[in-house]
Amino acid sequence: MEFQANIDELFQAQSHIYKHMYHYMESMSLKCAVHLGIPDIIQKHKNPVTLLDLASQLHIPSSKTNSLERVMRILVHSGFFNTTKLNKNQEEEGYVLTPSSALLLKDSNPTLVQTMLDPALVSPCFSLSEWFRSKELTPFETYHGKSFWEYGNDNPEFMNSLNDMMASDSKFTSLIVKEHKEIFQGFSTLVDVGGGTGTLARTISDSYPHIQCTVLDLPQVVANLPGTKNLKFVAGDMFHSVPCADAVLIKSVLHNWSDAACVKILKRCREAIGSSEEGGKLIIIEMVIRNDKKDENGVAETKFFLDLEMMLLSCGKERNEQEWKKLFMEAGFSHYKITATSGLNSIIEVYP
Ligand SMILES: C[S@@+](CC[C@H](N)C(=O)[O-])C[C@H]1O[C@@H](n2cnc3c(N)ncnc32)[C@H](O)[C@@H]1O
Repeated sequence: MEFQANIDELFQAQSHIYKHMYHYMESMSLKCAVHLGIPDIIQKHKNPVTLLDLASQLHIPSSKTNSLERVMRILVHSGFFNTTKLNKNQEEEGYVLTPSSALLLKDSNPTLVQTMLDPALVSPCFSLSEWFRSKELTPFETYHGKSFWEYGNDNPEFMNSLNDMMASDSKFTSLIVKEHKEIFQGFSTLVDVGGGTGTLARTISDSYPHIQCTVLDLPQVVANLPGTKNLKFVAGDMFHSVPCADAVLIKSVLHNWSDAACVKILKRCREAIGSSEEGGKLIIIEMVIRNDKKDENGVAETKFFLDLEMMLLSCGKERNEQEWKKLFMEAGFSHYKITATSGLNSIIEVYP
């Protein structure tokens, strides 16, 4: 059916297309600012940082100061920085941090933006349409000629920066652990499956010293990692077996895998926590896509972006409640409870 638009709708439509065609300018301006260390420069400065100060600290020649201002304008517009008057009587303005740029300081989240906007991860987007008609499992494979995991094995530095990035993300999740104490009551042993270098398990073992924590991950990830009195590292394969414990935790792992692979992992988790009489549970920290549109707009869009990222890189996906439920039932669990957090992730407690 032919679509008839009036002149206002036509201009709005044109603007809409341009906005989305150029949306990557926002991501790339953010990558540039983080690469130049702009959040740290602003943080170290006593007062708001003027454009000239910023250019001088970055050793940017005066011929490019205006270009810096244009990049900063996008980032102020998208909420990464703010501008404020230097003092009441002056017209001159300077840049200040916002909560978002404060999270990108070198000592809080040093690798998130650089890793996720690495050309190796962004380039597969260019193969998306080709991939739909190809045999490869992921656009990553269509673009690079090998799977994400093979690429990681061949490029240990790339894999290390991904692991560091996940460790920074887990520091953030540690807030969930401290805020939702009730979830970590009533058991004394816990295994963190695919727990990486143990950032989250360390928070749990420090916050709840009565819990004996084990981190299970691949040998190349946990080799030679030192444990503590109530934290140890075990090398293994979650598809084969998971060490027995009262509670099994799994964070940001299942979204990397297909439904069939998730059922296999969940079955191993189910075996590890034993029967319902033993009172064990599985704790999943992941996103739940909401179909009821109750996710505020920005959050829903971010979850959809992350879902596409999983599709580009692995055979994984972000799941809605029905999709989660189906996996739990297939793996032999009987019921579950979802607790939303104020962030993107939810906590799902799943019972035998
Ligand atoms: C996306 S990371 C999540 C790490 C950690 N849970 C976090 O949230 O920071 C996925 C983790 O699963 C681990 N992994 C992948 N395949 C595995 C397997 N077969 N057995 C155990 N761990 C595995 C990876 O090494 C990696 O540490």
